[in-house]
Amino acid sequence: MRIHTYEKIWLVAAMVLIVGIIATITYGAVGLGIAMIDDSEDTIDAANLGDDERFANPGIEQVGEDEYEVTVVARQFNYDPGTDQLRGFDPIEVPTDSEVTFYVTSGDVIHSFSVVDTNLNTMVVPGEVSTMTAVFDEPGEYGILCNEYCGPQHHDMEGRLVVHDVDEFDLFEIEAVDGPEAVDPGDEAAFTVTVANERLEERSTTVVFEFDEQTFEEDVTVDADGTADVTFTVDTDGLEVDDYSWTATVDDGMERIVEESGQLAVGEEEDEEEE
Ligand code: CUA
Repeated sequence: MRIHTYEKIWLVAAMVLIVGIIATITYGAVGLGIAMIDDSEDTIDAANLGDDERFANPGIEQVGEDEYEVTVVARQFNYDPGTDQLRGFDPIEVPTDSEVTFYVTSGDVIHSFSVVDTNLNTMVVPGEVSTMTAVFDEPGEYGILCNEYCGPQHHDMEGRLVVHDVDEFDLFEIEAVDGPEAVDPGDEAAFTVTVANERLEERSTTVVFEFDEQTFEEDVTVDADGTADVTFTVDTDGLEVDDYSWTATVDDGMERIVEESGQLAVGEEEDEEEE
């Protein structure tokens, strides 16, 4: 059979195209190492994330010298942590020069977790945990967006990721403030502030205790992954019978300061709950 030269050329070109398409698809699916959310891991109960060890208290944890884990719960229409404090959550804060692994899940419907201007971008599926690891070289701020339609306020679902210099990155918390709820006028009241350091190295910070118009400050060094107590004694001399507020603050080294507050009744026994 005789095939016309032009027909041969087109035949070969078509073959090359077909092989090229198959090769491109194969490379895209396997070669780049981009994977869909892995379903080999056990699923988790999206309706009861409060019972889940990892997601009951989402947030950041230091797990190794330069290793951190961040757990995030996406829900209509926020990220916890991540969405701005106005809506009740903090931004996600991570250090530079460290391996940060994000574990993101959903408490309701399908969302996404996309960190703008980075290649961190994943679907967030209820029951599944999306995992991504990143190293940030420079301090900075990034927006987080949901780009899976998830309901009427989908366009409003956003968050913030703040990268801090690793040397200034502290994870201090006020674990408890122990003190009386009421004292007699003129008596002293002692408040013990328990500060927890969640970094895996010894860190120092300053605890500030404010009561009425009195301000106290004390520096404290807290062991790696440990706690330290600081006691402040306030004087109620000259104060009228009334309720007075107190606030304990610990500086996190970052823009975030961690706060606890409560009330001290001078002169009257009140069974108000101390926070
Ligand atoms: Cu969540 Cu769109």
